[in-house]
Amino acid sequence: MKIFIDSADTHEIREAARMGAIDGVTTNPSLVAKTGRKYVDVVKEICELVDGPISAEVLGTSYDDIVREGREWAKMHKNIVVKVPLIVEGLKAVRTLTDEGIKTNVTLCFSPTQAMLAAKAGATYISPFVGRLDDASEDGMLLIEQIVTIYRNYHYKTEVLVASVRHPIHVVQSATLGADVCTIPFKVIEQLAKHPLTDIGLAKFLEDAKKIPR
Ligand code: E4P
Repeated sequence: MKIFIDSADTHEIREAARMGAIDGVTTNPSLVAKTGRKYVDVVKEICELVDGPISAEVLGTSYDDIVREGREWAKMHKNIVVKVPLIVEGLKAVRTLTDEGIKTNVTLCFSPTQAMLAAKAGATYISPFVGRLDDASEDGMLLIEQIVTIYRNYHYKTEVLVASVRHPIHVVQSATLGADVCTIPFKVIEQLAKHPLTDIGLAKFLEDAKKIPR
């Protein structure tokens, strides 16, 4: 399973890249707003830090605006994937952008039928939001299971990109279910590396090492 970092914070992205952990980056308007920087400037810097798919979201909601913004993002760098909301105008725009060879990530997916339509439109990635479904007392990982099964049944090429990840169990379940990608906040990437028994074991080894004659 590929791991993307879900962040617009270039310090976090640099750290995760140094760990060798990440294959790509996803951003969204909320993440970029937290940085206080222009969206374009953030994405340009990310493209210098990571050589992999980098999702940059359109802000328009009409077919014309989404296609125009998508073309502009795609022109900026070869690794940019245009993030498009899962609305009817968005699906139409995905069909056009796909036909032009522009990669897309269809975001804000909350149902299997939405995921089917995104695949039919030719999306490169579908982003189901598991954490937000869990927050609404629904089962986010059940949606991943359904989409992975449907895509496999019909050999859809669209990759399942698990988004709105909140904790390491989401990551383990994504990998177990055969999701293609999991986009993970930096805090959760750090959690993936940690285990209390590792810390206890290391402390004991270092303590015992002092008893080794030099
Ligand atoms: C990434 O593509 C999504 O925009 C992001 O994972 C949403 O996460 P959130 O539900 O924590 O805002």
